[in-house]
Amino acid sequence: MAAPKLNFPGGMLAGQTAIITGAAQGIGAETALLFSREGCRVVIADIDATKAEATAQSIIADGGAALAVAGDITSNECIEELVQKAATFGGGKLHILVNNAGYAWDDPIEQIKDKQWDTIISLHNTAPFKLIRAAAPYFMVKDGEPRCIVNISSTSGIYGNAGQASYALAKAGLVGLTKTVAQEWGPEYGVRANTVAFGAIKTRLTQKPTGDFIVRPDGEKHAVGFHGGYDEEEKWVGDIPLRRIGTPTDAARAVLGVVSPLFSYMTGQVSGGRGGM
Ligand SMILES: NC(=O)c1ccc[n+]([C@@H]2O[C@H](COP(=O)([O-])OP(=O)(O)OC[C@H]3O[C@@H](n4cnc5c(N)ncnc54)[C@H](O)[C@@H]3O)[C@@H](O)[C@H]2O)c1
Repeated sequence: MAAPKLNFPGGMLAGQTAIITGAAQGIGAETALLFSREGCRVVIADIDATKAEATAQSIIADGGAALAVAGDITSNECIEELVQKAATFGGGKLHILVNNAGYAWDDPIEQIKDKQWDTIISLHNTAPFKLIRAAAPYFMVKDGEPRCIVNISSTSGIYGNAGQASYALAKAGLVGLTKTVAQEWGPEYGVRANTVAFGAIKTRLTQKPTGDFIVRPDGEKHAVGFHGGYDEEEKWVGDIPLRRIGTPTDAARAVLGVVSPLFSYMTGQVSGGRGGM
């Protein structure tokens, strides 16, 4: 008789609970939806309370289990509250953490203000570190269940990108943080930690401005999008092997792949690139 096919009747993430930051929209929201369809309970952490709740409700309507936790991930109180609420939602367990919240605040090097710099480093590096540290009691465990951390980076952090000094440094920094988690928590606890570095993904950040904005930790509104963005696709696809801009679903599938049992022996790696993820 032929060997049975790889099969996950309850979904590839059945019985697991995930925190996904920046999951109110874009790549994070799509990741939460795909995780949920694979049997995972998902915690939608985002500074945008209204959109976070709407995303959680749409996942519940889709048949999943979701909880919105609103807050600014650069605040210590938010991190403590997020981990506590997520662990309660997960019945005392957390299995997956995706550090995805982020945006760029670009300028040429000579024009970057300290506040601009500090905001981007704190959002992309300090917050993921503090969240991983706060979640440590739920990852440094030996219960035989999978544990996985994914940090979302960018090709700017791998190749650099003119105008993005702070973002490129921060996204590169995530690679070192991730590899360190893999080395500290892998041997004893089997925790896997990987970075997914996206190239060009079509979200509100990368298309022409629509009036949408990010609320910065200082409360100021930061307009998103740029003219000549990925909605003008032909300008950008020349060095992308697949000759198309990725969708949030393409991006979310890459994250799902990394946390799935199909990648059970992959840790400390960076997957991603322009059409190469
Ligand atoms: N879109 C791309 O082409 C691309 C490429 C490479 C990397 N990325 C990275 O992917 C991630 C997701 O980006 P996206 O394109 O889906 O953008 P998006 O704006 O659609 O989603 C980002 C989410 O992060 C949230 N957020 C921002 N600051 C926050 C804070 N202080 N606390 C909590 N939540 C906060 C926003 O409210 C938003 O919901 C980011 O880290 C981004 O840098 C995106």
